Amino acid sequence: MEQVTLGLVGGGTVGGGVFQALERNGALLSLRTGYKFHVAKVVVRDLKKPRPVPIPSELLGTDWRAVVDDPAIKLVVELMGGTSTARHVVRRALEIGKPVVTANKALLSAYGEELFALARKHQTNLYYEASVAGGIPIIKVLREGLIGNRITHLYGILNGTCNYILTRMKLEGLEFQEVLDEAQRLGYAEADPSLDIDGHDAAQKAGILASLAHGFWIRPEQVSASGIRTITKLDIQFAGQLGYTIKLLAKVKQIDPGTGANVRSKIQVSVSPTLVPNDHVLASVNHVFNAVFVRGDVVGDTLLYGRGAGQDATASAVLSDLADAAFDLRNGVQSRIPPFVSHERNRGILPLADEVSPYYVRLTVIDKPGTLAKIATLLGRAKIGISSVIQPEGHVGESVPLIFMIHDARHASMTRAMSQIGRLSVVRAPAVMIPVEQF
Ligand code: NAP
Ligand code: HSE
Repeated sequence: MEQVTLGLVGGGTVGGGVFQALERNGALLSLRTGYKFHVAKVVVRDLKKPRPVPIPSELLGTDWRAVVDDPAIKLVVELMGGTSTARHVVRRALEIGKPVVTANKALLSAYGEELFALARKHQTNLYYEASVAGGIPIIKVLREGLIGNRITHLYGILNGTCNYILTRMKLEGLEFQEVLDEAQRLGYAEADPSLDIDGHDAAQKAGILASLAHGFWIRPEQVSASGIRTITKLDIQFAGQLGYTIKLLAKVKQIDPGTGANVRSKIQVSVSPTLVPNDHVLASVNHVFNAVFVRGDVVGDTLLYGRGAGQDATASAVLSDLADAAFDLRNGVQSRIPPFVSHERNRGILPLADEVSPYYVRLTVIDKPGTLAKIATLLGRAKIGISSVIQPEGHVGESVPLIFMIHDARHASMTRAMSQIGRLSVVRAPAVMIPVEQF
C-alpha cells in the first residue's frame, strides 16, 4: 500500500486529536483511500510539556523548517494557530510545492487570498475543512455538493464558545461572566477569549464561507462583527417571552438592489447577536454545537449541524482533508476541485450602515408619565416604526426596562436614533439593540 508521510506542525488540542484519530481510524482510512498515513514528525514549542494525548518523544521536534523541508514529508499539516509563524510555515511548504492542510481560520481570513494564489502558482493545494465549524463539512458542501447553486442566504452559528455561553444563560438563567470561565476550562474558547466573545472568530469563519459562496475574496475588515458581551440574562428572558432565542448569528445574504440598469446585488456579511424565532431550527442549536443553514437557488434550504469545536470534531475534518490530499497526490492533480473558486468580480459588500432589519431594543428608563411619549417622538422623527412596546410587570425601583420591537429599519438610522434617545434625561443606560432575523 502506498504511504503518505505527514509532518504535523502543532501537537496541541487539534494536533493531538489528529494523531489520536489516526491511531484509532488510520486502518479504516487506508481501506477507504488506499493510502497509509504515516506521521513522521510533530512540531511543538515545548518538548517537555505534558500532553493529554501522548505522542512518542522520538516524533517530537521544535524546528518547523526542518520538517517542512524534509524531502520525505509529502504533506504538511499546520495546526499551530496564529498568523505569524504559521504564515511562514504554510508559505514555505507551498513554495516548495507541498500540499498543506490547515485548521487555521485566522490565517486564512488574514492571508487567504495570498496563500491560495501561492498554491496555484506552485501547482499545489491548500486544504482547510477544519477552519470553519469544526466537524461540519461545510467547505466540502459549498465547494462540491452545492456547486450548481447560487447561494442566496447562508446563516451560521459558527462559534461554539458563544453558543455554549448563550445556551447556559438561557437554560439556567446565568449571567455571561459566570459561564465564560467554564467555556475556557472546557477548551472551547480561543487562548484569547475576546476572539470568541467579541465575534471575531465567527467573523473570520463567516468571511471564509462568504468568499467561497460568492466567488470573490472578502477581506476580514469587510465583515461587520459584534459579540455577546452586552447580552444580559434579562435580554434572554424578554426575547424568550416574545418567542425568540438569542444566538450569535453569521449572516451572508445576497441583497437585491431592486430594479435599475447595471445595478448589481451586494453581499451582506455580518456577525451579531440576533433574535431567532423559536420555531426556526437554528433556535434549538444548543451548547457547543454549530449549524450552518444554506439556501441555494436550486436546492432550497439545507442544514448542517455538528460540533464546531473540540479535539475530535476538528480532527475529523482534518482526516477528510488528508484523504482529499492523498487522492490529489495519487492523481497528480493540483486539486480535483479548486480550493477557492474565484469566479465573480468583487460585487461589493453592503456597508453595515445600510443593513436593514427588524430590531429588539431594550431601554433602561425612569418610570414616570411622559417617558414613553418622548422616546416614541424621537423614533417617529427618525421614521422608525414601532411594532410593539412592552414594559414588563414586576420591575420596581427608579429604573425599569422598556422593550420595543421595531419594524425594518436601516442600521444607521437605528444607531442615530438610539444615540438621541440615550441623551434624554429619562434614559438611564445605553440602549441594547439586537437585530431580529425572519429568514
Ligand atoms: P493549541 O492547543 O494551542 O496547539 C498549538 C500547537 O502548536 C501546540 O502543540 C504548540 O506547541 C504548537 N506551537 C505553537 N506555536 C509554535 C511555534 N512557534 N513553534 C512550534 N510549535 C508551536 O491550539 P489548537 O486548539 O490545537 O488549535 C490549532 C489550530 O486549530 C488553530 O489555528 C485553531 O484556530 C484551529 N482550530 C482549533 C479548534 C479547537 O477546538 N481547538 C477547532 C477548529 C480549529 P506546545 O504544545 O509545545 O505548546
Ligand atoms: N473557539 C472556537 C469556537 C473554536 O468556540 O468555536 C473552533 O474554531
